Amino acid sequence: MIPGSRIEARVKELGEEISSDYRGQVPILVSILKGSFLFLADLARNINILHEIDFLSISSYGLSTQSSGVVRLLKDLSTSIEGRDVLVVEDIVDTGLTWRYIRNNLLTRNPSSLRIVTLLEKRERRQVDVPLDYVGFVIPDRFVVGYGLDYEERYRNLPYIGALEDKDEV
Ligand code: IMP
Ligand code: MG
Repeated sequence: MIPGSRIEARVKELGEEISSDYRGQVPILVSILKGSFLFLADLARNINILHEIDFLSISSYGLSTQSSGVVRLLKDLSTSIEGRDVLVVEDIVDTGLTWRYIRNNLLTRNPSSLRIVTLLEKRERRQVDVPLDYVGFVIPDRFVVGYGLDYEERYRNLPYIGALEDKDEV
């Protein structure tokens, strides 16, 4: 669906935009594990202002290809975000339920600002009205893997974003 060369070009643009928007600040990039690990690695190398990195690991209950919105915190941040400028780094926003959970959770910790950069957005699938600040690509309603995204923990290593043809045959 999206070749590696297009991802590389878009991540560079996002890095430039974020660097200019946060100039003079030292934001904390909060990478949501596991799906955003490759995106974070490439994005951070395209951000040319001082910043810090932290990780939040969550897991959704329910079927592997459907979000239930019930989210479990597997690993919390290692530092306080109070008074800090926080930029959440996500692989994909689908229904928006996960982002709403993370957003509400982080807002209780009183960051100075809270935004999200997501590589992918399935706009037509949105169920909740949560703001998205930076979006890499808006994609159609297909289940995608690669560049960090998985199907049952497989395919995260693919250097491109691909759509599964038939989830029963992989
Ligand atoms: P949401 O809560 O529906 O927005 O779903 C967000 C999470 O569901 C993402 O962080 C992914 O872990 C997972 N997800 C949603 N769509 C896909 C997909 O097409 N491929 C892989 N994971 C997905
Ligand atoms: Mg995820």
